[in-house]
Amino acid sequence: MPPTIDRRGAALRGPSAVDVALEVNGERVVVHVPPRRTLLDALREQLGLTGTKKVCDEGTCGACTVLVDGRPVYSCLTLAIACENRRVETIEGLAKDGELHPVQRAFVDTDAFQCGFCTPGQVMSIVALLRTVPQPTEDDVKRAVAGNLCRCGAYPNIVAAGVSAGRRKRT
Ligand code: FES
Ligand code: FES
Repeated sequence: MPPTIDRRGAALRGPSAVDVALEVNGERVVVHVPPRRTLLDALREQLGLTGTKKVCDEGTCGACTVLVDGRPVYSCLTLAIACENRRVETIEGLAKDGELHPVQRAFVDTDAFQCGFCTPGQVMSIVALLRTVPQPTEDDVKRAVAGNLCRCGAYPNIVAAGVSAGRRKRT
């Protein structure tokens, strides 16, 4: 029997698809995915978490950066099945009780984006940094976002946002 095809043409159900349990932004979810499906596509197309951006889809830009067990990864290069029972954090999980995360607030306050396509990935990389280096230097932030390409060239303000976020409370 041929697999069921969704409106985007992606095979969602078929003999080779498997259930994968993940913790996404603190919630336990199960996605039914073919083994080749990336974490990025599972997040965006199956869970509707489109804050994580799909740009190059080949590991060269960092727009798809999310945290897996606290570490930044390119979700376009990470298979969903490799995240079974692991903790995935995306940009949607950062704000709490209607209040932006300090890194998000710092991006707004320092005007650290233009088109915004790289922003979720930049923010997630800096969130991961602040958990191990609570008050980062400019160099620390530059290293943390070295894998996050900003085609608009907003780097000076992105670095300023990372340093300034280190002075705020919740990380
Ligand atoms: S979309 Fe994943 S690195 Fe560019
Ligand atoms: S703000 Fe446009 S790519 Fe960074």
